[in-house]
Amino acid sequence: MQNVKDTDKQYVADTYARFDLEITSGKGSLLYDDKGNEYIDLGTGIAVNTFGVSDSEWVNAVTEQLGKFQHTSNLYYSSPSAALAKLLCEKTGAKKVFFGNSGAEANECMIKVARKWAQDTKGKGDYNIVTLKNSFHGRTVTTLKATGQDVFHHDFGPFPEGFLYAEPNDLESVKELVKENRCAAVMMELVQGEGGVIALDRDFVLGVEALCKSENILLMIDEVQTGNGRCGELYAYMNYGIKPDVLSTAKGLGGGLPIGAALLFDKVEKTLGKGSHGSTFGGNPISCAGAVNVISRITDDVLLGVRERSRYVFSELSCAKGIKSVSGMGLMIGIETEADVNAVLGECMARGVLPIKAKNKLRLLPALNIPMELLERAVKVIKEVAAELA
Ligand SMILES: Cc1ncc(COP(=O)(O)O)c(C=O)c1O
Repeated sequence: MQNVKDTDKQYVADTYARFDLEITSGKGSLLYDDKGNEYIDLGTGIAVNTFGVSDSEWVNAVTEQLGKFQHTSNLYYSSPSAALAKLLCEKTGAKKVFFGNSGAEANECMIKVARKWAQDTKGKGDYNIVTLKNSFHGRTVTTLKATGQDVFHHDFGPFPEGFLYAEPNDLESVKELVKENRCAAVMMELVQGEGGVIALDRDFVLGVEALCKSENILLMIDEVQTGNGRCGELYAYMNYGIKPDVLSTAKGLGGGLPIGAALLFDKVEKTLGKGSHGSTFGGNPISCAGAVNVISRITDDVLLGVRERSRYVFSELSCAKGIKSVSGMGLMIGIETEADVNAVLGECMARGVLPIKAKNKLRLLPALNIPMELLERAVKVIKEVAAELA
């Protein structure tokens, strides 16, 4: 019989450069491979398994919904999506939520909202959206174009027009584009995740918020990766003291099930009317039941725990031998090593620790509740490997 790796190589589209590792089970922040080796999980499926693998409270919430019904379509009312929308609005001040199935779809919704809002309020033509260089907003044709990295713009043209790229942390560059073009919105991640785990400067973010207000355009925050407790607040914008007009999120929202959401604040509360947008699976009851469990459990205590764990990692690694820099926010952390990142990553894996990568950095995205003892063991391994390979 063909083994899993060979079957995958033969039949699954060749889009992923997978590691030579087959995960067969896990619990909390531990993963196990087909040979029974144990790993400390610092990636959580790229910021998805918010409370770790097969967390029992989350499993119970999802299983309970599975026993009722798995899907109804958006033709009818159902309680999980209504409950989740209410929870998200109460915790953020948003007025409405649109549910999709992924980060890219949440961003597609955000882009559609910006274009329709601008058309409704200013007339045709004010459709441009300013995004930042080095950003990442998804892999649909439109979100690829919204992504401010040329490398993503080579193969799939023609792309929709209307995206302009400003320099991150350079307010003048955003101002210039906004003033010289007819714009609907500025759209940005507060910590550029795929771009290398780089947090935007507070002054820059406050400046962009003020600019959006004075130019009457929307401030749209992509919290697909930064959201849902990852950065030490429920959403990263709360760390900056700003208020977005639209916010997208996904990844950790469902705790391991596919779901994306666009949160619509006051200005755009009424932008999406009946028939203007939709999704067959959007608001799926199973995903929403998982997400209600996740969001209701991101309490002040959990957030305090995220910040404490973050401080620990920053203080242990910032001046460690073989480590050039530590960046990020909360439990979204980038580590630049003197040695080549692939070598460091490979050696960490060989020693039972699974970080992931972002550009030339190790990226840590552990569960919000990773036990301190496991985090300490993982940090010790990263320190040892970075020093030995330097
Ligand atoms: C900031 C950001 N936006 C959008 C996306 C796309 O999300 P998805 O892969 O769920 O479509 C990602 C994924 O890495 C992301 O980090």
